[in-house]
Amino acid sequence: MRRDEIIKQLKNPDTSELFREADRVRKEQVGDGVHLRGLIEFSNACVRDCLYCGLRRSNRDVKRYQMSIDEIFETVQTAQKLGYRSVVLQSGENCQYPTDAMCGLLSKIKKEFNLAVTLSIGEKTREEYAAFKAAGADRYLLRFETSAEKLFSKLKPDSSYGQRMLCLQWLRELGFQVGSGIMVGLPGQAEEMIADDILLMEKLDLDMIGIGPFIANPQTPLNDAPSGTLDLTLKTLALIRIVTKNTHLPATTAMGSMDPQGREKALQCGANVLMPNVTPTMYREHYQLYPNKICIKDKPGDCWMCISGMVRMLGRVVAEDPGHSLKFSSRLFRGSY
Ligand code: 5AD
Ligand code: FES
Repeated sequence: MRRDEIIKQLKNPDTSELFREADRVRKEQVGDGVHLRGLIEFSNACVRDCLYCGLRRSNRDVKRYQMSIDEIFETVQTAQKLGYRSVVLQSGENCQYPTDAMCGLLSKIKKEFNLAVTLSIGEKTREEYAAFKAAGADRYLLRFETSAEKLFSKLKPDSSYGQRMLCLQWLRELGFQVGSGIMVGLPGQAEEMIADDILLMEKLDLDMIGIGPFIANPQTPLNDAPSGTLDLTLKTLALIRIVTKNTHLPATTAMGSMDPQGREKALQCGANVLMPNVTPTMYREHYQLYPNKICIKDKPGDCWMCISGMVRMLGRVVAEDPGHSLKFSSRLFRGSY
């Protein structure tokens, strides 16, 4: 799709045709299987000060926690027992675990369980990424948040857009399955910028793309900013499906937090992945990037039941394989490493 066509669709209030086409492309490209990734939010410590995020270091109202390596391992085991084929280990940026400890954890997980492991722990050095890969990590999530560089610098005052792009390039070179994405409805973000984000996603040939509405957090400097809408987020999702074809696209927690039906709606206009929370209940209330996050009182097993029920209600099936990238093998075949 051309840039002007994408912009036209983002501005079009009538979404029925767009959503129908995205659902058709989803079925054709990735089928009816929905992949479940168990999300473990293992630490909320963060060195950055992103304006939108509840975990920013200046937020003194957060009780900081760090699960021990053993606790993380036990949580992974719980996920495996529940039936997950893939887990995501997520934390704030530059939290305090030594690289050796993380690598030890990764190799133990890979040795004991048949699970795909995704890391979502922010910007690191190339050497650290290489060590995680060698220890067995399969995938890495690092959203670029917005490709409008000025907006990026405003919202992430202590980060650099160039560095983030470099991290994404390193991850690709090192052989990770790479996920990225954006927030939709950021203050100052026009439809034209979202169109550029979508075209960048296409260019980066991402294996996974996670997007969600920006939700204003009262504990941040953006407390008064209007939140994004589910409507524009779903249009963006549908367009990403149509443009990037066989990418893995989650119906995200932020979508579900905006609207009780948010994730169901996303699964019907392009999404084919869900990321149920498997974090031990006692930590969940402390991992609030945005307010009114769902499932905060639930236990890992509750989220599995709720989500697998949702998938069946929509006439879809919980996929039984680890849900590796569908782009990965063709890229290897083309020799583009
Ligand atoms: N609203 C919505 N999403 C947010 N994130 C961080 N803060 C917010 C917020 N206030 C998203 C970012 C980050 C991901 C883990 O959560 O896109 O990459
Ligand atoms: Fe932690 Fe942005 S506040 S990475």
